[in-house]
Amino acid sequence: MSQIPSTKQQLFQVAKAVCVVAGLSFAFMSTSHAQDKPSGKRSIAEQYIQDMKEGKISEAGDDDHVVQELIIKRSIPITYKYINILMNTPNAFGPGVACTTCHNSNDPSKSYRGLDLSTCKGIIEGSTEKPKRALFTPGTEAKRDILIRRLRNNRMPLGQGFEQSTYTPNHMMVKQWIADGAKNDDNFKKNVLPLFTTANAFGPDTPACTACHMSNQEPPSFHELDMSSHAGIMLGADSVAKGVDKATKVIVAGSPEKSFIWQHLSEDRMPPGISPAEPRDHPNTTILAAWIKQGAKCD
Ligand code: HEC
Ligand code: HEC
Repeated sequence: MSQIPSTKQQLFQVAKAVCVVAGLSFAFMSTSHAQDKPSGKRSIAEQYIQDMKEGKISEAGDDDHVVQELIIKRSIPITYKYINILMNTPNAFGPGVACTTCHNSNDPSKSYRGLDLSTCKGIIEGSTEKPKRALFTPGTEAKRDILIRRLRNNRMPLGQGFEQSTYTPNHMMVKQWIADGAKNDDNFKKNVLPLFTTANAFGPDTPACTACHMSNQEPPSFHELDMSSHAGIMLGADSVAKGVDKATKVIVAGSPEKSFIWQHLSEDRMPPGISPAEPRDHPNTTILAAWIKQGAKCD
């Protein structure tokens, strides 16, 4: 539990620092003279100044604010050359060794999941060990695809170590329940729900899911997710912020692999061992997602 205040505190401090930097650069930029040319003829820098004048630039606060404002919103093309550097550099997505230390060949005896992140072809091909799978679809939003998920999503319960198995009988109980249709039956009440409401169900020294996801109110419940009842689980996350109809579904009945609950139980955030207090929206994660959306071009 000790992670929680420090997570929020750290995020808050980072947010404050970003505000100061953005404030300074705003003061600097506004002394130059933006030309009021028609937008088609403006350079990217002139357009940026114009957008500031018109108040179109959103407030600072996120860790990837600079990337959002100056790269994503301006559609600056991301090169594979940069992606290649990221894959080969320590601390590129938050503290930890470089991705290619562990994923550097399509031979599963040498590289985890037979995943080769050291070449463009390897990144696009994805995992070659069973289950063989691509990590994303070039040209599409990748936030919920395997590659970006592994960089953003902390494994649950929060603070769970990568060295703990994701194949325990309790994990398999949840997976099977989702595969069987995620029903509100006796099996759910007797065997599944207690796993969500009890500490140490998915690993030693870990709080119950309901210690952090206990109601539709945030705070105290992260993502307004209520895991204390079948109705709460099926309703999903952020039902107050987004509205009941648009709540984020965390269960896709019949499909554990597509269910966020199963993804969060079984997938470790990369690089392994990274603290859950590290920002999920690292600027380089945003850039990697933008490269995918732009078509994952290798040149
Ligand atoms: C210290 C070794 C290590 C490092 C470094 C590492 N990984 Fe992993 N990675 C693993 C292991 C082990 C697995 C398989 C176990 C698991 O599923 O958690 C894995 C699984 C994955 C998967 C899931 C593939 C699939 O088919 O489900 C992706 C994607 C991934 N890693 C991406 C990355 C990225 C991107 C980086 C760099 C930020 C990275 N990894 C760094 C060890 C590592
Ligand atoms: C110590 C607090 C804590 C505990 C315990 C915890 N979570 Fe979380 N959970 C979080 C936080 C914080 C997030 C926000 C995202 C992140 O950090 O990855 C989150 C996010 C999630 C999400 C994503 C919701 C969305 O909108 O996409 C799911 C699903 C989830 N948790 C399921 C679980 C399950 C299942 C358990 C129990 C095995 C659990 N959580 C235990 C803190 C916790």
